Amino acid sequence: MYMHATHFYDLFDFDTQETNAQQAFFLSHAEGCKHVLDVGAGSGTIAFSLARHGISVACLEPSPAMRSLLISRLAYAIELQKYITPLPYNAVDFRLSRLFPLVYSSNVMHLILDEGERTKVMSNVVHHLEPRGKVIIDFRVGGLTTKEREFSGELNLGEIQYRLIYVG
Ligand SMILES: C[S@@+](CC[C@H](N)C(=O)[O-])C[C@H]1O[C@@H](n2cnc3c(N)ncnc32)[C@H](O)[C@@H]1O
Repeated sequence: MYMHATHFYDLFDFDTQETNAQQAFFLSHAEGCKHVLDVGAGSGTIAFSLARHGISVACLEPSPAMRSLLISRLAYAIELQKYITPLPYNAVDFRLSRLFPLVYSSNVMHLILDEGERTKVMSNVVHHLEPRGKVIIDFRVGGLTTKEREFSGELNLGEIQYRLIYVG
């Protein structure tokens, strides 16, 4: 999915209220940390907001398409380049040579369908945690929300109109 629709990912990030709340939540938990690990960073929605507060974020993102969004974004945020490290690794089998006081993963776990793989992700996360470190993992429970089901976004880029329609 991310290979085919990634270029539209941020365009249809329509719910800024939700995004602001997500960023504020993770910032409140990252305060005081120098380095954190973002598992499945996507285009960097959370990582960028932490970097703006001087927190270094190691961004695990295995999808080349999503990672390219993250890296392109960095091209326009020179002051944040020293804080964000895009890493092309999969949460299932990554190994970094450092530990973190905070490891988080937002909106990712429900995409890892295999239970054995989810267990490996959890074990890897714990493996990268400093003593008394913190793990925050959120994931979607159930299907689409009513808001999502009813939403069909529209956006014009020049003379072409794009529409977002949720199915399923
Ligand atoms: C819905 S996006 C969420 C992005 C970001 N965490 C956020 O909340 O804005 C899910 C991301 O998880 C990544 N992902 C999926 N499977 C993964 C895995 N096994 N390891 C690491 N990342 C994964 C996808 O490539 C995608 O960028």
